[in-house]
Amino acid sequence: MASQAKPDLTAAAPVHGARHVAIIMDGNGRWAKKRLLPRVAGHRAGVEAVRKVARAAQDLGLECLTLYAFSSENWKRPASEVSDLMGLLRHFIQSDIEEFHANGVRLRIIGNYRALDPSLVELIDGAMARTAANTGPVIAIALNYGAQDEMVRAAQRIAERVAKGELATQDIGIDAIDAELDTADLPPLDLLIRTSGEQRLSNFMLWQAAYAELYFTDMLWPDFDGRALAGALDAFRMRDRRFGGL
Ligand code: FPP
Repeated sequence: MASQAKPDLTAAAPVHGARHVAIIMDGNGRWAKKRLLPRVAGHRAGVEAVRKVARAAQDLGLECLTLYAFSSENWKRPASEVSDLMGLLRHFIQSDIEEFHANGVRLRIIGNYRALDPSLVELIDGAMARTAANTGPVIAIALNYGAQDEMVRAAQRIAERVAKGELATQDIGIDAIDAELDTADLPPLDLLIRTSGEQRLSNFMLWQAAYAELYFTDMLWPDFDGRALAGALDAFRMRDRRFGGL
């Protein structure tokens, strides 16, 4: 019997038309509370949702999925929760990097991750290097990320280039700023999703969201999955994007 080739869902431009989706993964704590579980159980369930959604992103033909895992403001949480989150991230990278690699996924980190524990920085750099030559979608994880901090770091680099005479002040435009952001080589952001019913951006991708469509759902992050992502992309497909035009 002739073997049936698995359809390559990424071969043609996907019908939803989105290239880059970003998600503010919110509601792990409330998910755990509803079940009388400790908050860390919500974060653990959140990692399972990350796995499902990352696989679905690939099946749905996205070029990039960016996930807000730890903000530059999350340091204000109790030390035990920060440590739980860092432990989960470490374990996730260690255990999932080979599956990413086998699927051709490129792992990227945005945010000031170099300020994290040196052993975690080493692990992240190794994982990014391992998948750097892959040609499949990018899974970008925002770690120690804040959009204002990202813009400050970009402004500092631009000021340094001006001081060195590499860039003239009048040449600082949108492209020059884009090029210094952590997302410089990622596709433009099309859709920004936030789970758990909150309707704010919480210092996430403020520059990149300039013309992104926003999608808010009451679903708590651990309940979000490939079907929910497909639903968000269906809603995106129905939006009329005008980019300031008519
Ligand atoms: C928000 O829920 C979620 C976070 C601050 C962390 C998100 C982290 C994960 C999903 C796990 C690690 C990620 C990866 C990529 C392995 P919350 O705690 O603010 O929930 P609440 O508002 O209901 O309390």
